[in-house]
Amino acid sequence: MPEERLHPNLALARHGAIEILRVDREDALGALNFEIMEALGDYVTDLRDRRDEVRVLIVTGTGRGFVAGADIAGYNGVGQTVFDGFQRRSRQTLDAIAELPQATVCAVNGYALGGGFELALCCDFVFVSEKARLGLPEIKLGLLPGGGGTQRLPRLVGPMKAKELLMTGRMIPATEAVEIGAALETCAPDALMPRAMEFAEALAGMAPLPLREAKRVVDDGIDAALSAGLTLEQRVLGALFATDDGKEGITAFMEKRAPVFTGH
Ligand code: COA
Repeated sequence: MPEERLHPNLALARHGAIEILRVDREDALGALNFEIMEALGDYVTDLRDRRDEVRVLIVTGTGRGFVAGADIAGYNGVGQTVFDGFQRRSRQTLDAIAELPQATVCAVNGYALGGGFELALCCDFVFVSEKARLGLPEIKLGLLPGGGGTQRLPRLVGPMKAKELLMTGRMIPATEAVEIGAALETCAPDALMPRAMEFAEALAGMAPLPLREAKRVVDDGIDAALSAGLTLEQRVLGALFATDDGKEGITAFMEKRAPVFTGH
């Protein structure tokens, strides 16, 4: 698939309604410095506005590393202001990924540590290569995660498991990531991208409005009271029933034919 460069370390490929973003910094196992984080943030801002054209984003890495975290060399010797600026930019970028209207699929090919694990935690679906290792090792640097690891991980796997990973810095294998609910499936290394593409294509083939709304209702509902989440669910369903695609889906079922969804 032909790729364009968003940055020397970020490659982008398109396949119909799917975009594949590849972190390409093999010599540093995909570690993210300020410039990569900025380019990633700019891309995500632009992608948000292209929700009708792009319906699924796949994020992956290159070689042994998916993303081995923030670029530790970039922390070395810098002042507090620079450090804080990097953390603010990371937060904006990762929040923007988590809030994308598109479905997001993370294909973790190798080390997903610190910010790399946090990037995966911002995606809707995580597929992991059997070679991957995931973790939040910041405690070993005398630090803690700053890209959502202390908040998104416990929401996904529960507080006890999250504390174990945060407080020991232990790296987990792909199978354990699936067992604890931090990933959906493990794949043989060669099968990772084909599986992520197959899954993305299935998503891209769904009616676009309920696809987007399913993500929003779950994500908004998780942080809301149950009654507020249930009210949101009913409101969204009512609105979908009024759409052309809602009517088409029902009509097609009654006429025993495949529905033709238009996104309206
Ligand atoms: N930032 C900057 N460079 C990194 C990096 C990071 N987060 N992670 C790996 N690298 C670099 C290494 O410095 C090394 O560069 P070099 O070849 O110029 O020395 C290269 O990537 C390969 O890493 P190396 O440590 O030699 O590979 P390994 O297989 O022995 O170990 C890891 C792999 C992932 C276990 C190890 O690199 C590591 O612990 N990385 C740091 C992870 C981390 O703490 N992330 C959170 C950051 S806040």
